[in-house]
Amino acid sequence: MKSLTLNKTWLLALTLIISLSLILSGCGGDKAVTTKSDGPIIAKFTHVVAAETPKGKAIQYFATELEKRSNGRIKVEVYPSSQLYGDADEMEALVANNCQFIAPSSTKVVSLDPGFQIFDLMFLFPTEESVIKFFNDPEGGQKMLSRLEKKGLVGIGFIPSGFKQWFNSKKPIVTPADMSGVKWRAAAGGILTEQYTNMGSTSVSIPFGEVYSALQLKTVDGSENSWANIYSQKFFEVCQYITVSDHGRFDYSVISNKKFMDSLPEDLRALVKSTWRDSQDYAARIVKEEEENFKKQVLSSDKVKVVTLTPEQREAFKKSIEPTWNNWKSKIGEDIFERALAASEAK
Ligand code: LMR
Repeated sequence: MKSLTLNKTWLLALTLIISLSLILSGCGGDKAVTTKSDGPIIAKFTHVVAAETPKGKAIQYFATELEKRSNGRIKVEVYPSSQLYGDADEMEALVANNCQFIAPSSTKVVSLDPGFQIFDLMFLFPTEESVIKFFNDPEGGQKMLSRLEKKGLVGIGFIPSGFKQWFNSKKPIVTPADMSGVKWRAAAGGILTEQYTNMGSTSVSIPFGEVYSALQLKTVDGSENSWANIYSQKFFEVCQYITVSDHGRFDYSVISNKKFMDSLPEDLRALVKSTWRDSQDYAARIVKEEEENFKKQVLSSDKVKVVTLTPEQREAFKKSIEPTWNNWKSKIGEDIFERALAASEAK
């Protein structure tokens, strides 16, 4: 009898402990932020690239600075290399508030807003400075970010990450005619697919974490990416032909969940945004130098055969995708398109 009473007491205590811990930690999709009353607010920042890339470093800078500037009231846990979520599920996880920040390459925001594909219009932005001008333009990049509010998300800012290059395992790419018969991996979104079609080749969308094996198994013949990713993912080991093309951009959009942002005290909300602005500046400061370092390391490998496009050769590629420029003006939004053009032409 006594042991039965004891068991009951234990059972009751256990139930209480479990209920209490569920309430405190939050369970289910919408409560991933652990806000212990006496502890920091924990936010998860998930991304798909290596920690040592400019993007990885900018995100870590943000996490460190935000914790410092908030005197430890908010702590951002960073999960690089698709450790927590990959391309296929990070957006869904953000919408469900299972993570609080993501930084996809902008073209991957296509399902929410096709305008974000502007960065993947090849040969649009000629310099790092021009793209940063567009990021900071209240009628350009900032307006695009604010359009995400309608989707229950908050556009926090951008990360510049340098220019994209082509690499493949089939043949040297020097002219648009060389594109024929090459199957490319494109990150996402119709604008890339259309440009590859215009150049006479085909493309398929594959999540970043699966690109290396897709190249190795020859599911695709080649891909485009930044020097940081070509080096850190070792793509050059499975694709010997590299074309230094600087044909497009990898620019990232940093996005948060609106419920999460609204749940923060006003001063912390402002701090997230201002700390991100400094992190974007930090990324802009390091990207050129880092890009040069990664480029040197890739090109010094004895595995690669390199072609560097001349300005005339780049012009021929630009000409071959002209129909996409015209076709996408209205899909992106004439207003945003005009601001991007103005930024790209600014001296
Ligand atoms: C890609 O899919 O190649 C890139 O978006 C990965 C990244 O985030 O740099």
